[in-house]
Amino acid sequence: MTRVLIIEDKQSMADMLAKTLEAEGFSVLSSLTIKDGLDLLYRENIKAVITDLKLPDGDGLKIVKTVREGFPFIPVIVMTAFGSIETAVKAIKEGAYDFISKPFDPDHLIYILKRALEDLTLQKENLVLKHEFSKFLKMPEIIGVSSQWNSVMEKIRKVAPLKTTVLVLGESGTGKEIIARAIHHLGPRAKESFIAVNCAAIPKDLIENEIFGHEKGAFTGAAELKPGRFELADKGTIFLDEIGDMEASLQSKLLRVLQENELERVGGTKTVHVDLRVIAASNKNLESEVSAGRFREDLFYRLNVFPIIIPPLRERREDIIPLARHFLGLFSAEMNKQAPSLSADSEAMLLANEWKGNSRELKNIIERAVILCEGPVLQPEHFNFMKCFLADQIGTDVPLSEVAQSAARTAEILRIETVLTQTGGNKSRAADILRVSYKTLLTKIKEYGIKNR
Ligand SMILES: Nc1ncnc2c1ncn2[C@@H]1O[C@H](COP(=O)(O)OP(=O)(O)OP(=O)(O)O)[C@@H](O)[C@H]1O
Ligand SMILES: [Mg+2]
Repeated sequence: MTRVLIIEDKQSMADMLAKTLEAEGFSVLSSLTIKDGLDLLYRENIKAVITDLKLPDGDGLKIVKTVREGFPFIPVIVMTAFGSIETAVKAIKEGAYDFISKPFDPDHLIYILKRALEDLTLQKENLVLKHEFSKFLKMPEIIGVSSQWNSVMEKIRKVAPLKTTVLVLGESGTGKEIIARAIHHLGPRAKESFIAVNCAAIPKDLIENEIFGHEKGAFTGAAELKPGRFELADKGTIFLDEIGDMEASLQSKLLRVLQENELERVGGTKTVHVDLRVIAASNKNLESEVSAGRFREDLFYRLNVFPIIIPPLRERREDIIPLARHFLGLFSAEMNKQAPSLSADSEAMLLANEWKGNSRELKNIIERAVILCEGPVLQPEHFNFMKCFLADQIGTDVPLSEVAQSAARTAEILRIETVLTQTGGNKSRAADILRVSYKTLLTKIKEYGIKNR
């Protein structure tokens, strides 16, 4: 329910306002003073404020100012005495959304309130979109020091200046999209648009319309001509993400666009010419998709002109810490925090993890850790992947009576791996740190099948 804050010192007036709003389905919080009103504003999830200007502890303009500065997406509607237009103008100059004069018409108030809520939501959405857009305009910051990553970057630098079609392959979260953006930005089309289509995320019955657009009157509700994403990408780059999930009928339409550089909108016969650079990505093995008959072979060869394979994070462990530091900086800046450093133990823990979700998983874990960490150093307890790890290791078919034993075993494995990473694989130093004999450590390593890194 949308929560509205009323700040009004006359109880009868406040009650009347509350009743009017509640009858329209709003939830209402009331306060009689500026101080209590601001308290509520900071504590509660308020979506709009209606305030009187003459309040026992000061001028209601203070509320207008505070909200404008601290909560730019909460509209404030002020109530003024009948005829005092000057005050109303002053309040609007200070940033009030609108005013109503007392005595007011309830319908008018509701109308203004609803419009205010709509306007401000829209403003917010536009900003978000702009932000999304600016993300497209900027060359992404790409981190990596491993030799595997360097050879990926070298391929990018070679192919970016050309119009060659690129196929980016890699497990989920390895950085396929960031690589696609980099290729676009390092090439001659950097100033043109980069349009992404996620073939897996757009519902099947909408995707054709999304990609190819439609003519006016193509179907009921198609009141206007709508250009598709291929047209929007004209002269720029189209990024076909999760191409392995594209359904067969669209695959053949896509093939035509790639071969002829032309397309027809849904419901149309007019041919539209497009000049596109194509980058496709998939986390599936497209060759086996072809063998299984799910992906067109001719389309595969069209796309597989210049493949770039991104190795999973666990195969390029040197990138883990630099990436972690990069994400730390990103999230700390976003949360207005001084970026914490990584303790030796947390580095060891990050290095020992499997990272099945690759860089994306690392990014998520760092985000959570930055939220949890209050001091200057990130410690292992700030990473809560232990829980997932334990759940993974214990398995789903372990009876309760054996859980403790199974968890202890997992904890031992984790601890031994962490210390081995810390000592660079030196077992006798690891045994010292773990305070067990060298022989015991060797037995455990063998028993648990711990690999030497
Ligand atoms: N080398 C890198 N440097 C900086 N950030 C990176 C790097 N690799 C990945 N990231 C970040 O990690 C996140 C996941 O990367 P991205 O979305 O490119 O992966 P993906 O392979 O497309 O994943 P999915 O298969 O889940 O769509 C993104 O937020 C991206 O910015
Ligand atoms: Mg992706």
